[in-house]
Amino acid sequence: MASSKFNANIFLLQVSVIVLFALSSANAKGLSAKYYSKTCPSVEAIVKKTTTSFISRAPTLAAPLLRLHFHDCFVRGCDGSILVNSTKHNQAEKSALPNQFLRGYQVVDAAKAALEKKCPGVVSCADILALVARDAVSAIKGPHWAVPLGRRDGRISKASEALNTLPTPFDNITTLIQEFRDKGLSVKDMVVLSGGHTIGTGHCFTFTDRLYNFTGKGDTDPSMDPNYIAHLRKKCKPTDILPLAEMDPGSFKTFDSSYYTMVSKRRGLFESDAALLNNKETRAYVRLQASTHGSTFFRDFSKSMVKMGKIGVRTGKRGEIRKHCAVIN
Ligand SMILES: *[C@@H]1O[C@H](CO)[C@@H](O)[C@H](O)[C@H]1NC(C)=O
Ligand SMILES: *[C@@H]1O[C@H](CO)[C@@H](O)[C@H](O)[C@H]1NC(C)=O
Ligand SMILES: *[C@@H]1O[C@H](CO)[C@@H](O)[C@H](O)[C@H]1NC(C)=O
Repeated sequence: MASSKFNANIFLLQVSVIVLFALSSANAKGLSAKYYSKTCPSVEAIVKKTTTSFISRAPTLAAPLLRLHFHDCFVRGCDGSILVNSTKHNQAEKSALPNQFLRGYQVVDAAKAALEKKCPGVVSCADILALVARDAVSAIKGPHWAVPLGRRDGRISKASEALNTLPTPFDNITTLIQEFRDKGLSVKDMVVLSGGHTIGTGHCFTFTDRLYNFTGKGDTDPSMDPNYIAHLRKKCKPTDILPLAEMDPGSFKTFDSSYYTMVSKRRGLFESDAALLNNKETRAYVRLQASTHGSTFFRDFSKSMVKMGKIGVRTGKRGEIRKHCAVIN
C-alpha cells in the first residue's frame, strides 16, 4: 500500500532529509525547557490543566494526541504542520490518507486559546503539541519528562509529504529502521517509540489481510499466533474497514509496558508490531521489557520522545508563532 509510494519517492525524500538534517542538528540546540520562563511562565500549567481536563473526560484521547505529535515530527519536523487546515489552494497534511483518523485537535486549540489570553503571540503550536502529548501520556499513568521548548511553527503543510514519509502499519523491519534513521532516530528509538502502541486502537483495514488473505492466496500471517487470529476474526470480517480493535487489549487506556508482552507472544496487531521480532536488537528489547515488566521502558520512552521532539525544529527567526494553530498567519 503506502509503502510502494514510499519507494517511488525515496530519492526525493533522501534529498530533503539531508537538507532537513543539516538544519535540524544545529537548531535543536536552541531548545530549552525554560524557554518561556520570562515570556509565559504559566505555559506548562495552562497546557497541563487543559489536557488533563480533556483526558479525564475521555481517556481514549491520549493515544491520538501522542500520535498527533509523532505525525507532526515525522513530516517537516516538529513544526505544527499537522495542525494546519486545508484551504482552497492547499491540501494540508491533515487531509492525507494516513492522517484521516487523527483526532484531538480540539485539545491543542483549547490550550492555544487559553495561552493567547495569557501571553498572546508567544507560544508556538508546535510546542503546545509537544506538551500536550507529554501531559496526555502522564495523565494515563505513563512517564513524565521535561519537554525542551522553543520550536517555531512552519508555514508549509502538504498532504503528499505526509503520505510519503509516515511509517505505515504494513511496514517491515527494514523499512521501519530506515524511516526512523532518516529522521535521526536509532533502532532503539524505533522499538521504544513503538511501545506507544500500549495505548489506542487500530481500524480493521490496517490488519485484516493478516487474518484472511495475507499473500493473496486466502492465507493468514504465519507470524501471528493462530489463537489470536481466531480472536481478531470475531472483531473484523474480511471486508470490515472502520471497526476498531484494541492494540493492547485489556489495558489500551493505560500507558504501561504490556505492549511488549503482547508482541513477544506474537500478538502484535500490525505487521509493523510483529516486525519487531525480526531483528536481533529489537527482538532483544521486546523480550527484555516483556520479561521484566518494562524495567527500563518509561525511562527509555522519555528519552526517545525528547529526541523525536527535536526532529527538524525551527528556531530563531525561522518559521512563525501562529495565531491559530489551524491557520498559517
Ligand atoms: C479547521 O477545520 C476544522 C474542521 O474542518 C474546523 O472545525 C475549524 O473551525 C477550522 N479552523 C479554522 C481556524 O478555520
Ligand atoms: C520490506 O519492504 C520493502 C518496501 O515494501 C521491500 O522493498 C523489501 O523487499 C521488504 N524487505 C523484506 C526483507 O521483506
Ligand atoms: C485475496 O487476495 C487476492 C489478491 O489480491 C484476490 O484476488 C482475492 O480475491 C482475495 N481473496 C479474498 C477471499 O478476498
